Amino acid sequence: NENLINHKIVFLGESAVGKSSLVIRFVQDKFSLSQEPTVGAAFLTKKLKVDDLNYKLQIWDTAGQERYHSLAPMYYRGAAAAFVVYDITSMDSFERAKKWIEELKKICGEEIKIALLANKMDLDENQRVSKDIALEFATEKNLQLFETSAKTGLNVRKVFEETIKILPKT
Ligand code: GTP
Ligand code: MG
Repeated sequence: NENLINHKIVFLGESAVGKSSLVIRFVQDKFSLSQEPTVGAAFLTKKLKVDDLNYKLQIWDTAGQERYHSLAPMYYRGAAAAFVVYDITSMDSFERAKKWIEELKKICGEEIKIALLANKMDLDENQRVSKDIALEFATEKNLQLFETSAKTGLNVRKVFEETIKILPKT
């Protein structure tokens, strides 16, 4: 009979940056190179224990295609944390991530904890967004930056654990 702390977490970012892949890596520990674009949004839950507390995460994996943009507020409103993802091989995806962060800060203010995820680190031979520019942006906006790979699993669990540590314990 466990005491679960519930938190809503939302994933945002341009299409194909790997949001669904990161969620599936975290929840099911699987990865597929043929992951299909999300339609609307997907909802998954995951229980985990951090510092002896039991959490149940309600994860909203949104669709990045621009035609779904107007739906996003339904998913980020009331979220404790937002993970904004870009693909390190795409400067456009980094620019899109910056826009998501502006939108979140404008609409949710201090209500939401935001982390910036530099995904596809396994493709670092094709890196277009340097760690320096990402860190400079993250520092300026007071966000944590995580370098991840849904393919290898790099830092995927860590992103969730580190973020949970800074969320309310109720
Ligand atoms: P939308 O649902 O359209 O917003 O896209 P998404 O952000 O959910 O991207 P998705 O997870 O569908 O991944 C897009 C493509 O990138 C798929 O072919 C994935 O297999 C691939 N991919 C995702 N993460 C990684 C990663 O870390 N490394 C590599 N090499 N490929 C990845
Ligand atoms: Mg998706």
